[in-house]
Amino acid sequence: KLILDTLDAHSEIKDTRFLVIPGQSTPATSNEDQISILGALNSLSSRDMIAYETHEVSSHVLTAEGDLIVKDGSHEARVWSVLPAKGQGAPLTPVQLKKQVGDETAKVGQGRAFKNGWIGKEGDGLVKLTADIKDVTKIDLEEIASTGTLKSGEKVLADLRKRKLITQKKGQWFTVRKGKDFSTSTAKPETDLTVDMLTSGSWKNSTFKKYNFEAAGIPTSGGALHPLLKVREEIRNIFLEMGFAEMPTSSFVESGFWCFDALFVPQQHPARDLQDTFYISDPKHALPPEPEYYKRVSEVHEHGGFDSMGYRAPWSDEESNKLLLRTHTTASSAHMLYKLAAKLRGEKVEGDIEEFTHGAESTTAPAKGDDFKPAKLFSIDRVFRNETMDATHLAEFHQVEGVVADRGLTLAALIGFMRVFFSKMGIERVRFKPAYNPYTEPSLEIFAFHPMLDRWVEVGNSGMFRPEMLEPMGFPKDVRVYGWGLSLERPTMIRYGINNIRTLVGHKVSIEGIENSPAVMF
Ligand code: PHE
Repeated sequence: KLILDTLDAHSEIKDTRFLVIPGQSTPATSNEDQISILGALNSLSSRDMIAYETHEVSSHVLTAEGDLIVKDGSHEARVWSVLPAKGQGAPLTPVQLKKQVGDETAKVGQGRAFKNGWIGKEGDGLVKLTADIKDVTKIDLEEIASTGTLKSGEKVLADLRKRKLITQKKGQWFTVRKGKDFSTSTAKPETDLTVDMLTSGSWKNSTFKKYNFEAAGIPTSGGALHPLLKVREEIRNIFLEMGFAEMPTSSFVESGFWCFDALFVPQQHPARDLQDTFYISDPKHALPPEPEYYKRVSEVHEHGGFDSMGYRAPWSDEESNKLLLRTHTTASSAHMLYKLAAKLRGEKVEGDIEEFTHGAESTTAPAKGDDFKPAKLFSIDRVFRNETMDATHLAEFHQVEGVVADRGLTLAALIGFMRVFFSKMGIERVRFKPAYNPYTEPSLEIFAFHPMLDRWVEVGNSGMFRPEMLEPMGFPKDVRVYGWGLSLERPTMIRYGINNIRTLVGHKVSIEGIENSPAVMF
């Protein structure tokens, strides 16, 4: 109000230090006053009611010692004043002087009074040499106390600062002009038209804040794909461009038969333990598979066959029809391969199996006059394992799985194929290490060189499916099937530089991170 009224009367405020704040008797020269004026200036200028310029000043204030000098005189003046004039009375000894003016004043004041020629020695004592003195220090400090500075200049100020009698203080003052929306009313404009204003009619007399059409809008947020979905799409495209068909993988719940037995995983295998597999408690049991196929599978396990001696361990129907959460998508691959083979035997199979062999041309062997057609199949879906969770393991994750069936496939074909597949994912340096899977022989673990980690990391598992798995399904003896699997999470974490899986999946995921994560490009 003070600023607006002053501007209204004088149209300009040349120096805000001359304003007199209501309730104060002197002009607003102090720093505190100027700071509170600045607050008002900012608020008024943000509403374009005024415009102002800032001026920097440095001023000086007295220290406690400086204040004392203004009151009692400088140390040297105090020393001078207690001494007798030369020849008039007994000179004061240093000890007597200390007693009279105190240690500090005696020490500092003596030196300066000598230098000024005010006092001198007589015998062992001190006497006045002049009848009058001009206490310049006190006079200068008085000037500083009232004006904040000294006319005589910076040299003296610097000396007084060094003597710790004054300190420098930075300050600001302002010149103020009217702004384009100048008015003497400080009522804040309304920002909203409310129901109350409408019913009472008060809107008629209100001033409203103008819309700021230049303001940046609030960014709209839309859906965002999770990194796993983006990488899944990339990998799916690699499969599709290589002529693969996507297998149906919607059944998360499988039987022990399809998850393990059909794959020739022994019924006593540790992977089937409760510690590794989640079993379903209700319902507990699966419907029985096709009886002839079931018999061939249980036979090859218990007694052998198809040139294999089998495991020669008792077969348990109970173990086979337990329901569980699939531990790998190879359970789905087994379903698919069984259907392909059943079609060969002329059996009726559910759904259109043709679409899965369409597009897969045999490159290695001529047709043999039977109905076998090569197939290239893939899936990317979720699997479940009873894992201890840590930075790299969750109880559910995604598997990328590929299966190729053709006559006369070799291990070299598998290795060559893996190199092409991984290079399409941007992984050029791959190595293979002999491994063991119950359902493949030979089996190979796949390692890729990780340039950021500067070491080889395992990226997948692969192998040639065993005859004990393929022949009970009904595949001709010379049909070979190879397959491989990898997790979707591992390449996604590498790609996005994530080192804890819990920041990729689960309640600790940052939605912002997901929204801002870049699109994938292999
Ligand atoms: N099922 C294997 C796994 O879970 C991957 C695999 C698939 C291996 C097909 C060989 C053949 O690791």
